[in-house]
Amino acid sequence: MMKSPQVLNVTDDILWVGAIDYDIVTFDVVMETKYGTTYNSYLIKADKIAIVDTVKGKFWDEYIAKLRSQINPADIEYIILNHTEPDHSGCVGKLLALAPKAKIIGTGNAIRYLSDLITVPFESIQVKDGQELDLGNKKLRFVAASNLHWPDSMYSHAVEDKVLFTCDSFGAHFADERMFDDQVGNWDDAFFYYFDVILKPFSKFMLKAVERIRLLEINTVCPGHGPILRTNWKKYVELSEKLAHLALDTPLKKRVYIPYVSAYDNTAHLAEAIAKGIEMVPGVEAVLMNIEHASLGEIDVELASSSAIIVGSPTVNQNILLPVYRLFAMISPIRDKGKLAGGFGSYGWSGEGMKIIRTNLENLKLRYTETDVFVKFSPDESDLLRAENYGKRFAQLMLRD
Ligand SMILES: Cc1cc2nc3c(=O)[nH]c(=O)nc-3n(C[C@H](O)[C@H](O)[C@H](O)COP(=O)(O)O)c2cc1C
Ligand SMILES: [Fe+2]
Ligand SMILES: [Fe+2]
Repeated sequence: MMKSPQVLNVTDDILWVGAIDYDIVTFDVVMETKYGTTYNSYLIKADKIAIVDTVKGKFWDEYIAKLRSQINPADIEYIILNHTEPDHSGCVGKLLALAPKAKIIGTGNAIRYLSDLITVPFESIQVKDGQELDLGNKKLRFVAASNLHWPDSMYSHAVEDKVLFTCDSFGAHFADERMFDDQVGNWDDAFFYYFDVILKPFSKFMLKAVERIRLLEINTVCPGHGPILRTNWKKYVELSEKLAHLALDTPLKKRVYIPYVSAYDNTAHLAEAIAKGIEMVPGVEAVLMNIEHASLGEIDVELASSSAIIVGSPTVNQNILLPVYRLFAMISPIRDKGKLAGGFGSYGWSGEGMKIIRTNLENLKLRYTETDVFVKFSPDESDLLRAENYGKRFAQLMLRD
């Protein structure tokens, strides 16, 4: 079992006091975290002691031991919350019990969310872009960075130490006890995946944040997850900027994703006929995928890169099948809102699948086309032709978009 280092010096007065989670397999339930992750919390040993973010609740014992090795928790004056998701705010409640004079510093949204997240009352100071907090011999300056990836997020700049704390921005789910970017080897794979899943839908906000930090004096970027960027922070800020531009400037290809499941191939035959119809229309591409054994990652890649989706399932016991619900869970209304959508499937008698597919896609803010193709038991020649024509019309509709 690898263990977490005690504490690490980022500068003489700023220490990493985070936790390393080697065992996590999925983050926020859906995100695959094959490299584990870290919850980075930082201690600023200024005249007035401050903490920047905490760690996930289950690491409390380890966390408080690290803090106690450096300070008396009762001396903490400020707890800066750059973002209140519980992977960062998870120890705030318990810490406040030991730090009665500590004030919470965060955006208006952060303060509101925290009051709904924890039951203990707390004192707080709401801060805005450009506002400073005096720590005696040092100061912190706050930088607006909302919607990265919650409305409450911000960055904090330790001006004298030239350290920028960015929470979920520029981070990665990557666990390595060496913690520093120049020591952990290459983690770009984890960085790209993290950007894609967590930040890409908020690319517009990423560009605004990058603009705001451009003129700051920075030696080190301290994110909330993964390696501390003391050597090559520019690479990751520039990469984030580039990826955000790419996401905003690349129009999605005219590509229809057709995920389906099928026990006896009836739904599968409809899927093939629809794809054939789509491919008859020049300029539109169809991607067929039987999702019974597809990973969430594979599904997500296709959802993200398609401009439309047609979902197929047989009706089984008046419902549709589990893999299709997993697919629905991967649809992001933030990213996929307004994409053209449709449905198809085979059924025997009652055919509830039709309504269930349509309702789910509409609830997820997709634009369901007026027709779809649901067929009793085995599709015959005329059903397959209907499916093909449906594919063709669907593709033509996309070209007009
Ligand atoms: C266990 C089971 C339960 C079913 N329940 C329903 C049902 O509630 N309503 C319905 O219309 N069809 C029901 N069917 C019929 C299937 O929808 C039908 O066999 C369909 O053609 C299967 O399509 P597939 O070949 O794509 O799997 C059921 C079939 C099975 C095997
Ligand atoms: Fe978060
Ligand atoms: Fe996070």
